[in-house]
Amino acid sequence: MKTTVSVIKADVGGCPGHSTCNQKLIDNAKKILKKSKVINDFYVTHCGDDLELIMVHGKGVNNKEVHKLAWSVFESGTKIAKKEEYHGAGQDLLKNAFSGNVRGMGPGVAEMEFEERKSDPVLVFMADKTEAGAWNFPLYKIFADPFNTAGLVIDPHMHEGFLFEVLDARTGKTVQLNSPEEIYDLLALIGSPGRYIIKAVYSKKKDIAAVTSTQKLSQMAGRYVGKDDPVMICRAQSGFPAVGEVLEPFAFPYLVSGWMRGSHNGPFIPVSQRDARCTRFDGPPRVICIGFQVANRKIIGPQDMFDDPAFDLARQKANEIADYIRRHGPFQPHRLPDEEMEYTTMPAVMKKLSGKFK
Ligand code: F6R
Ligand code: MG
Ligand code: MG
Repeated sequence: MKTTVSVIKADVGGCPGHSTCNQKLIDNAKKILKKSKVINDFYVTHCGDDLELIMVHGKGVNNKEVHKLAWSVFESGTKIAKKEEYHGAGQDLLKNAFSGNVRGMGPGVAEMEFEERKSDPVLVFMADKTEAGAWNFPLYKIFADPFNTAGLVIDPHMHEGFLFEVLDARTGKTVQLNSPEEIYDLLALIGSPGRYIIKAVYSKKKDIAAVTSTQKLSQMAGRYVGKDDPVMICRAQSGFPAVGEVLEPFAFPYLVSGWMRGSHNGPFIPVSQRDARCTRFDGPPRVICIGFQVANRKIIGPQDMFDDPAFDLARQKANEIADYIRRHGPFQPHRLPDEEMEYTTMPAVMKKLSGKFK
């Protein structure tokens, strides 16, 4: 049986500020998805101010009906956000009329279709206050680093490695690189997550293993409208990395770009759904993970994977790093380098200053 997992997300309004998504928006999304005959199952949550729709169906990726359903949830949420006067109501809906696919319209999309195995564990990662390339680091660790993933060495099904598809966000072109054969080339690109974004990972037999949302909001809008706040879907077990190997990179709170005003580097903190609320300096950038089995196009046993003391040390370390880096105030490298500030509200300030240079 071919099954599709679609994760479509958008920020349709925060409350208060850009910190979180009001329960009314979540309840409204659940109500609409429950009534729909288009999908077989769903799970709705939020990460910070982003409303996250996890949908399971049999219609394949880029399906018009599924995208239309997600768009209708975001449109309806925007109406509520406007009425309730939440902050930035309709923030990510860059277009007015739905034209067949939400790609390019503002929402973030990660989708994969696969033949259901006897057991198919799936992990969905959702982030707030960071950019699309934020998954480069963990995807490399999960699928290419034997110090993270024991299965790359021990499991004969994974021993041959994986295939990475990388998008150049500047040109829109993609390149496919094999691991372990081409890892130095791969790292040459993905070490610059602002430009090169891992779009998907495949087994060497071309089975889909992971997929990310690669939308760059600022490029779509041509102006600053908050960060991309990306999502990622990973399959696990039996020839793919184990659930614990997929989660392992997040035990290290690596630095990502985003945070306050999409203009700062900061630690990526793994949190439970309960703590998926951006507070300190509008952050720190955070990530949640919902894990479940997919069976007969149903979501079985969703679990809040970072709701676990095993990630306490990562959280503590992230807070220490946040404290340290925050002391730099408006100085780099806390603030992003100039070329990345081009995509924020900074150019408007610079324009005002330009006349004063003699
Ligand atoms: C970052 C983000 C927030 C806002 C900040 C200013 O992605 O969403 O940090 O950039 O709160 O927001 P406005 O301009 O709406 O006052
Ligand atoms: Mg927002
Ligand atoms: Mg957000």
